[in-house]
Amino acid sequence: MARPLTVAVLFSGRGSNLENLIRHFHGKRFDTKEVRILPVTNRPEAPGIALAARHGLKTRLLDHRNYESREAFDTALAALLEGERPDLVVLAGFMRILTPRFTDRIEAINLHPSLLPLFKGANAIEESFASGMKVGGVTVHRVTSELDGGEILAQRCVPIEPGETLETFTRKIQAAEHTLLPEVIADLLDLTETKESL
Ligand code: GAR
Repeated sequence: MARPLTVAVLFSGRGSNLENLIRHFHGKRFDTKEVRILPVTNRPEAPGIALAARHGLKTRLLDHRNYESREAFDTALAALLEGERPDLVVLAGFMRILTPRFTDRIEAINLHPSLLPLFKGANAIEESFASGMKVGGVTVHRVTSELDGGEILAQRCVPIEPGETLETFTRKIQAAEHTLLPEVIADLLDLTETKESL
């Protein structure tokens, strides 16, 4: 049987996007191709590890605190991924700034909870909500060593309605992420049947 298409999903926390990708893709067959999700984290306390385990998936852990520098961690992470030969590497809530030690070796895409290039960084939802804009959104882009700076592949707008709270806006952002990211992955891996069923 053909080797499964492997999608490495890197995360640091809750893992709702990881779980969404597992539900959409893991163990599913598209034509002759089967998809496998490979969860990878940098935090042993990340709740996403238990979520993956509930789906029978073991998470690969590389704790950044065990490395003396950002570059040393990035080199080890690139080596781990190269060893797994993934067809696609997806950063979904992976809260690390990556150096060229990683980005020169690994092609990856990243999910970000704003309409880039606005609101880069770790507090995008809060900054977007507080901006006075009537719309926020989510972006999937290619990863470079510039924080949240690579080529934009897809975006989805999320309106900020009168009376909206940060909580309701955050839920809408998460819902948008949970549809946009699988669509982009289906496109990149040419999983046409998945796209139709999304
Ligand atoms: C998501 O909203 C993702 O866009 C964001 O972290 C959250 C992870 O949620 N990523 C960034 O802010 C990257 N700068 P999850 O762990 O439930 O998937």
